Amino acid sequence: MNIAVFASGRGTNFGAIIRAVKKGTIKANLSLLVCDNPKAGAIARAKRAGIKIALVKREDFANKEDFENKIIAHLDENKIDLIVLAGFMRMLSPEFVGRYAGRILNIHPALLPSFKGTEAIKDAFDYGVKVTGVTVHFVDEKMDHGPIILQKAVEIQENDTLESLEKKIHKIEHHLYPEAIGLYVEGKLKLEES
Ligand code: GAR
Repeated sequence: MNIAVFASGRGTNFGAIIRAVKKGTIKANLSLLVCDNPKAGAIARAKRAGIKIALVKREDFANKEDFENKIIAHLDENKIDLIVLAGFMRMLSPEFVGRYAGRILNIHPALLPSFKGTEAIKDAFDYGVKVTGVTVHFVDEKMDHGPIILQKAVEIQENDTLESLEKKIHKIEHHLYPEAIGLYVEGKLKLEES
């Protein structure tokens, strides 16, 4: 099975996936990094690990359809079976999601359906919830939405700061995402029609 990871930022989840593939806990090929940001830390990680990079910048295309068609060309060329979104900060169109239905995973740093969006850890912290967490889910056409695969809760303690909470959340992400991807690769996840 060939996996493409999509990332826009630091790429620490991508790093965790690289390690899991190397260790053999994810039995698949990490074939491609799709990145929309030339400054993303994920690019350096891909280079270090010898993973092919498709840098596709939205501003190089007149519209979203052309941008996504370029990504699709890269996915086809590399015979990608599974797309793993790891901090890819762009909404994919319904057409794109439909084309890869049941074959796109996402990780989100909160317990969905709470605190969707790009600032989930801060939003949960500022709200004052006592429990937050991490969600891995199949992607559908809505943002941070779709059938949930795994979730793990984190308690927010009195002495937690936003920084300490971020650390706890990321630590969980780096275990939970490889676990979920492993389940997918081993055919242990079944997406049923609702
Ligand atoms: C992760 O915390 C991930 O859950 C979040 O982006 C971060 C990327 O970090 N994704 C979302 O907020 C999706 N709505 P990373 O680049 O270090 O892996």
